[in-house]
Amino acid sequence: MGKPLSISRDLNLNLEDLIGQCIAILGIRGSGKSNTAGVIFEELLQNNYPLSIVDIEGEYFGLKEKYEVLVVGTGEGVEIEIDAHCAAEIAQVSMEQNVPVVLDLSGFLSEERTELLKAYLSALWNLAGTFRKPYMIGIEEAHEFIPQGVKNELKEMIARIALRGRKRGLGGIVVSQRSAKVDKDVLSQAGMLFLHRVVHEVDMRVYSELLPWRKTEVKEIINSLDTGDCIYVNGDNILPIYVRERSTFHAGFTPSLEVVQSPELRSVSASIIDTIEKAREGKGAKSATEKLEERIEQLERMLDSKDERISELEEVARTLGYIKLEIPALVREGHPAESLPEKTQRVAQSLPIVIAEDAVDITDSITIPSIPVPEPVSMANRQEDDSDEAVDRDLPPAVAQHMERLVARFGRAGTLHRRVLAFLIEHAPGSYSAHQIAAWTRCPQELIEDDPPYEFLHAGLILRERRTSGTLYRSALRAYVNREFKVFQPDIGERGLHRVTGLLRDRLAVIV
Ligand SMILES: Nc1ncnc2c1ncn2[C@@H]1O[C@H](COP(=O)(O)OP(=O)(O)OP(=O)(O)O)[C@@H](O)[C@H]1O
Ligand SMILES: [Mg+2]
Repeated sequence: MGKPLSISRDLNLNLEDLIGQCIAILGIRGSGKSNTAGVIFEELLQNNYPLSIVDIEGEYFGLKEKYEVLVVGTGEGVEIEIDAHCAAEIAQVSMEQNVPVVLDLSGFLSEERTELLKAYLSALWNLAGTFRKPYMIGIEEAHEFIPQGVKNELKEMIARIALRGRKRGLGGIVVSQRSAKVDKDVLSQAGMLFLHRVVHEVDMRVYSELLPWRKTEVKEIINSLDTGDCIYVNGDNILPIYVRERSTFHAGFTPSLEVVQSPELRSVSASIIDTIEKAREGKGAKSATEKLEERIEQLERMLDSKDERISELEEVARTLGYIKLEIPALVREGHPAESLPEKTQRVAQSLPIVIAEDAVDITDSITIPSIPVPEPVSMANRQEDDSDEAVDRDLPPAVAQHMERLVARFGRAGTLHRRVLAFLIEHAPGSYSAHQIAAWTRCPQELIEDDPPYEFLHAGLILRERRTSGTLYRSALRAYVNREFKVFQPDIGERGLHRVTGLLRDRLAVIV
C-alpha cells in the first residue's frame, strides 16, 4: 500500500508512482500548468521527497509558506545568491541533506542561466549516480531548455535525465506552453502526462500523437477543458481530471482587482545556509565589489557602442544629405518629442528633418498598443545602396561570403521574427519589452510573447533578459560577430570585426 497523493479527487496516485518518473505538463498560457506542477511539488514536499525546481519566472517561492524550501539564484527574494561557480555545492547539499531547492533564474541573463543550469544539473546527475535515491527535478518553460530540433549541451543533459535518470532515482517534471516546441525525444519519455487546454493546431497535433483518440475527438475534448482541467495519461490509464488548487501561495496567479496578501514564508535551517555559504566562499563566488566592477564595465561598453551608433547615424545623414524621420501618428497627435529615445532625439536635434506625412498606415487592421514608439531612421533607398556595398572591398572574400551566408540564413526566418530582429538591431543597444516591440512591428504583443524569435535567441544574436519590470529583448550583434567571425580575426583584426558588425547591422536592420 503506497502513500496516496492528493492531486485531484478524480485521481488515485501514490508517491511511489512518481519515483524516477518523467512527467510532462503541457497547455496554453493560463490553463493551469504551474498550478498542477505546484500541486505535485506540494505533495512531494509533504512527503519529504527531495527535489529541485528550475523556476525561470520566480513563481515558486510561495512553497515556503508551508515547507522548508531553499530559494537560491539572484535578485530579490532569494536566500542565497549563487552563480555557476557554486551551483554544484548547492546540488550536493540538496541531494545529501534532502534540502528542497528552488533555483530562481529570473534575475540572470540567458548565458548565465545556461551556465548555471549546466553546472547544477551535471552535479545532480553525478550525485544521483552515487546516492541512487528518489529525487525530482522540475523544469518550467521547458521548451526554452529542450527545444525541438536544436542541439546543445544543456539540452543533452536534460534529455539524458529524462531518458536514463530512472535507474538513478532521478525523475523530471517538464512544464511547457509550447508542446510542439518541446523536444520529441524527451516528450516520448514522459510516462505520465497532464494535458491542459491547447488551441493552436500544431499543439493539437502533438496531443493527437499522445492520445489514442481520433483527431476530431481530441480537439473536441481538449477544447472543452477549463482552467485546472486536464487529461491525465499514464499508459492505458487516460482520464479527464480537475487538479486541486495549490494550497501555498502561487506567485504566478493571474492578477485580479482583489488585494493579494504576501504569504509568511518559512526558512531552511540556519545550519544549512551556513554549510552552503561556507562551500560557496571556498569556491570563490564573486564578491559584491567584483560584481559591481563587472557591471560598470558592461555599462561602459554599452555607452561606447551607443556613441559609435550615433556617429554612424550622423555619417549616414551626411551621406544622404538629410534624415527622414517617420513619426507614428500617436507622436504627431500631441505626444511630446521627449518621449522618443535619447538617441533619436539627439540625432533629430542635430540634423534637418523631413517629417513623412504618410509614415504610418493607420488603416492597418492589427491593433497597435497605445504607446508612442519611435520609428527608426528611414531606410528608404538603403536596400539598393547596400546590395552593391555589402561585399566590402576591404574584407577578404571569405569573410564577405560568410556574411552573405548568414544574411541569407536569417532571411529565411519568419516575417515577424525578422521584424523583431530588425527593430532590435536598429535600436541597439537599447532593451525593449514585448509591448514596445509589438507597437513598432505592429503585431499583437501576445504573438511576440508566445512565439519569440527563437532562432535568433539560440544563435545569440538577440538576448532576452528578465528584469523586475518584465522581460526585455536586445540585440547582441557585436558579441555575435566576435564569436561567429573569430576565425577571421587574425586576418582582419579588431577593425575588420568592427567593419563586419557595421555591415551586418545595416543588412539586418532592413531584413524585414
Ligand atoms: N486547478 C485550478 N483551480 C483554480 N484556479 C486555478 C487552477 N489552476 C490554475 N488556476 C488559476 O489560473 C491562473 C493561471 O494558472 P497557472 O499560472 O497555473 O497557468 P499556467 O498554465 O502556468 O500559465 P502560464 O503559461 O502563463 O505560466 C492562476 O491565477 C491560477 O491560480
Ligand atoms: Mg506557468
